Amino acid sequence: MTTSHVKQSLQSATSLTTPSFKQHAYAHYDELRQHSPAFPLPFLYEGQLRIITRYKDANSLLKETRLTKNPHLILTEEQFSEFFVGGSSSPLSKHMLNVDPPDHTRLRTLVHKVFTPRMIEKLRPRIHAIASHLLQPYRHHSSSFDFIQSFAFPLPIIVISEMLGVPIEDRDQFRQWSNYLVEEHAEEDKDKEIAIMKEFTDYIGSQIADRRNHPKEDLISQLVHVRENGEQLSEPELFSMIFLLIIAGHETTVNLIGNGLFALLQHPEQWEELKKNPSLIPTATEEMLRYYSPVEFSTNRWALEDIPLGDTVISKGDYVLISLAAANRDPEQFPEPHLFNMKRNPNKHIAFGMGIHYCLGAPLARLEAHIAFEELLRTLPSLTLAKPAEELSWRPSLLMRGLKELPLIHR
Ligand code: HEM
Repeated sequence: MTTSHVKQSLQSATSLTTPSFKQHAYAHYDELRQHSPAFPLPFLYEGQLRIITRYKDANSLLKETRLTKNPHLILTEEQFSEFFVGGSSSPLSKHMLNVDPPDHTRLRTLVHKVFTPRMIEKLRPRIHAIASHLLQPYRHHSSSFDFIQSFAFPLPIIVISEMLGVPIEDRDQFRQWSNYLVEEHAEEDKDKEIAIMKEFTDYIGSQIADRRNHPKEDLISQLVHVRENGEQLSEPELFSMIFLLIIAGHETTVNLIGNGLFALLQHPEQWEELKKNPSLIPTATEEMLRYYSPVEFSTNRWALEDIPLGDTVISKGDYVLISLAAANRDPEQFPEPHLFNMKRNPNKHIAFGMGIHYCLGAPLARLEAHIAFEELLRTLPSLTLAKPAEELSWRPSLLMRGLKELPLIHR
């Protein structure tokens, strides 16, 4: 296949989020990886989008200081409003994942302590209790249920809601808002997206106002306290931090747990072995992260200057989209990359990113997944897919890889 064939096949898939692309993404990535280290696609106006698929390049570009997260250094105001719904006024965009140092360092430092492995470990008993409670209704044999709806989604949202202190009753509302925001929509739905951003902003505002009047022992109260007592956190940064923690705290982990179980049930012999030897759960979790990486692409990055890469050059102003999913299936790094092997070792996947934006929530996500699989193997050992794997579909999101549903039977 020539480069233009690959381009055509990508473009005829319209975008990187169509059901067809999502279904065959790993085959597309294999082609892209062979053709160019930074495969170009047309982007906003005259701009270029570069897709990075090789592990070595992804690893180094995630640490590259010549890439910026600040679109204002690259885009005109007009381009900015086309790219970002809600334009520069969006009060939820001033979070750590969208900024470079020194702002990034300041924002990350404010919450870093809460997410260290030592602090997260204290949540273990509570996460066990939540997981066990969620699985109770399905203990009986012959029960059938959608695993995403019943377990993979509620577990992380309950955990992050409790950490932040937001009412559990509101979690379905979050799910609707955040699902909408991480999925792709037609141009005509922009107004709806703006309306949802506004509702979400108002909701966060009401939580902040509540903690100003009635401080509690939760993370929102701590952040409100930081805001009130110094110059370290502006009002938009406070809103954006809460927004990021809500979204990142569950949109990702739901996919790790859902995709992970899907991979295991596609390899029933490994599910059986894990049942006999649950001490393999941590290594199996790393393979789940590599095999169906929950975050498919890294977030926005633009080139501040020309960056040579292999036989090509990423040009100043290019939008660089790093496929973590593709990097994690690169044969140069992982022997037999398309093989799911829960004992794979070494397994230096980059599902949590790399460099200064390396996932803050990685210890939490890992702990939730370990507990989820411990409880699952203990409570529902005889699970099978209720539909053939080929009939399941992926959500139309650029950033995330997650199943729409995972129907199961407990026999
Ligand atoms: C399986 C679950 C998860 C995966 C695969 C994941 C993946 C990632 C990745 C790839 C990044 C970096 C993106 C980039 O550089 O463009 C990131 C950043 C981040 N993640 Fe996670 N994440 C997960 C769970 C969580 C959880 C549970 C939280 C908890 C609140 C969280 C909070 C964050 C935050 C705050 C950042 C931004 C860090 C920074 O900019 O310094 N993540 N995550």
